[in-house]
Amino acid sequence: MVTSLPKPTTTGARRRPLRVAMVGHAFMGRAHSNALRQANRFFDLPYEVVAQVVVGRDAARVEAARKKFGFEEGSTDLAAVLARDDIDLVDVATPNDTHASIALAALKANKHVMCEKPLALSVVEARKMVAAAAKAKRHVGVWHNYRRCPAASLAQRMIARGDLGAVRQVRAVYLQDWLSSAETPWSWRNDKAVCGSGAHGDLNAHLIDMTRFLTGLEFEAVCGVEQTYTKKRKDGDGKPRLVDVDDAFAFLARFAGGAIGTFESTRVAPGRKNHNRIEVSGEKGSIAWNLERMNELEVFRFDEPRDGQGFRTVMCMDGVHPYAANWWPDGHILGYEHTFVHTLADFVRSLDSALRFRPDFEDGLAVQAVLEAAQKSTASGRWQTVKN
Ligand SMILES: NC(=O)c1ccc[n+]([C@@H]2O[C@H](COP(=O)([O-])OP(=O)(O)OC[C@H]3O[C@@H](n4cnc5c(N)ncnc54)[C@H](O)[C@@H]3O)[C@@H](O)[C@H]2O)c1
Repeated sequence: MVTSLPKPTTTGARRRPLRVAMVGHAFMGRAHSNALRQANRFFDLPYEVVAQVVVGRDAARVEAARKKFGFEEGSTDLAAVLARDDIDLVDVATPNDTHASIALAALKANKHVMCEKPLALSVVEARKMVAAAAKAKRHVGVWHNYRRCPAASLAQRMIARGDLGAVRQVRAVYLQDWLSSAETPWSWRNDKAVCGSGAHGDLNAHLIDMTRFLTGLEFEAVCGVEQTYTKKRKDGDGKPRLVDVDDAFAFLARFAGGAIGTFESTRVAPGRKNHNRIEVSGEKGSIAWNLERMNELEVFRFDEPRDGQGFRTVMCMDGVHPYAANWWPDGHILGYEHTFVHTLADFVRSLDSALRFRPDFEDGLAVQAVLEAAQKSTASGRWQTVKN
């Protein structure tokens, strides 16, 4: 891949800056800006990441975010920011309906782009984003941060080197409970025009990406079922608003090569806060991982002595484990925010190499195709082929 950025130096002379414009400054804005500030402190990167401009719609809130998150500047004029020569990377941390337009404008302005998930509202939009990235020859990525939990990365390594043999089954759930009460206010996450779907696009998107990452399998066909339990909620002004997205969404999957899988996401599972769990079963063993115990990987292998067999819990915080050595001595654990630092660090590294950063927009498109096929299947009541 080609980049117009100046040739970096990792030793001796000061690293060249990679100036970032971040659009959106709430939940993900907080997570991303923390990563922008931490990446160079813990990773040896070819560029110095500079939190240059935070972009939003309201000047007062932008200024508050600028101060809190440590950006050099704030702006409410995205077009003016994109027109600047000194901005190298645009970070999209806004609701789903804005991803395509912001990313397309940024690519047109010759910027690299990191975009939040799900990549787009539809396969059609996602295809345009893939084409624009290829045309612009810019580096692009999607913030599927869970790939870069050390334990998840280790699981991928184990599966890729054949520890489990051929993968037969994937069972994945992403369970939350914050919409269980009808009193929880309406937000953009309940509005199909803004988010495309509910728990499905929000949470199943992560499970789909994680499955592709861990197993290397491609989804062939899906069959889904969805439900919305609370059809109206009051917005911040007390006005009743329609909820036109799913509260819960489950689907079955068939993969190329014969593996099968089950996927469930919900925001109405009382007691479950951010229960993102995936289990992969192969011919020779299994692994299981749960974000709520994110530094641990459960591993079972038939090739261990029979009388000692059972799931073992591997604490993935030794220097030999992915990313762990960049932080603290063995066993000094990591948390949610570190996954964003890892994602950014790998992205910045990829700028200076022939490495393809994953997940890129093609991966985002693949996720979108599964999401869309599953939505079509809930409407038709039939299995749906996945088409990128
Ligand atoms: N990777 C993850 O684990 C993860 C977690 C949460 C959310 N997300 C994704 O991140 C994105 C943002 O979610 P969030 O939780 O930060 O939402 P949020 O509501 O907390 O923040 C959205 C931000 O975007 C701004 N915004 C809204 N419309 C805009 C526009 N048209 N132009 C400029 N700014 C605009 C808002 O003012 C706010 O600052 C979503 O796509 C969501 O799916 C990803």
